[in-house]
Amino acid sequence: MMKIVNTIDEVRRQVREWRKEGLTVGLVPTMGYLHEGHASLIDASHRDNDRTVVSDFVNPMQFGPSEDLESYPRDIEHDAALVEAHGGDLIFHPEPSEMYHDGFSSFVDMTVLTEELCGLSRPVHFRGVCTVVSKLFNIVQPDRAYFGKKDAQQLAVIRHMVDDLNINIQIIGCPIIREADGLAKSSRNTYLNSQERQAALVLSQSIFLGEDMVRKGETNCDAIISAMTAKIKSEALAEIDYVKIVDCKTMQQIKQLDRPALCAMAVYIGKTRLIDNFFTEDI
Ligand code: PAF
Repeated sequence: MMKIVNTIDEVRRQVREWRKEGLTVGLVPTMGYLHEGHASLIDASHRDNDRTVVSDFVNPMQFGPSEDLESYPRDIEHDAALVEAHGGDLIFHPEPSEMYHDGFSSFVDMTVLTEELCGLSRPVHFRGVCTVVSKLFNIVQPDRAYFGKKDAQQLAVIRHMVDDLNINIQIIGCPIIREADGLAKSSRNTYLNSQERQAALVLSQSIFLGEDMVRKGETNCDAIISAMTAKIKSEALAEIDYVKIVDCKTMQQIKQLDRPALCAMAVYIGKTRLIDNFFTEDI
């Protein structure tokens, strides 16, 4: 029977019991409002581990002052049904005060990898992600943790963090899950009205165009970025934050596809900022 708990003590107690039985534990960190993308992470954890913990916490620390913390969608009943249907065993759903007590003043910060892509337009974001994910790792102490490739920079940052800080948890990256028409699944898709929802297709269309160029042998990053940018600009409601190709480990921009790379974009559709990407190694 799947359980929902709100406190760190309850999570620790449950995980301790599982460990006594010799069971393995997977962690799927989420901010809730779960969709098929999250479901695929829970499926992967359920496949690889005896027990799966899903954290469901809209982490205030990773939102900038003018970002969508207040309006970020929340629906714990829906989330509970989805987690249960996909074989999750425990939802950790804390209040912000449970995660950040009065006087909280320790942070996990990272240089270099966080200075490009989303880190440029969201300066406090990765400090918030690294801090909360470190806390979740310490609370649950899982064998494996699951992250979507849609947040590609986040995945690279977490991999780098566990390496830098000798955190003994295996990080598993799972493929992007798309709607039938190509739009990458995201909790923020709910912000789009019907006209914007249609316009948002330009992200995946541009991603597929870039993938196709790479598949056909194009190695010049400027050429790929120009073609993808032109495609996005053909949509009046779209405004580009960035379209970049970076080394997939260091997140630094490259000119030639002479190593495993990540092509990533952030695009505003109206007021909603959406991201999408592809890894050259997945083509
Ligand atoms: O990807 C997310 O939903 C969040 O950034 C994460 C990893 C749950 C941390 O709050």
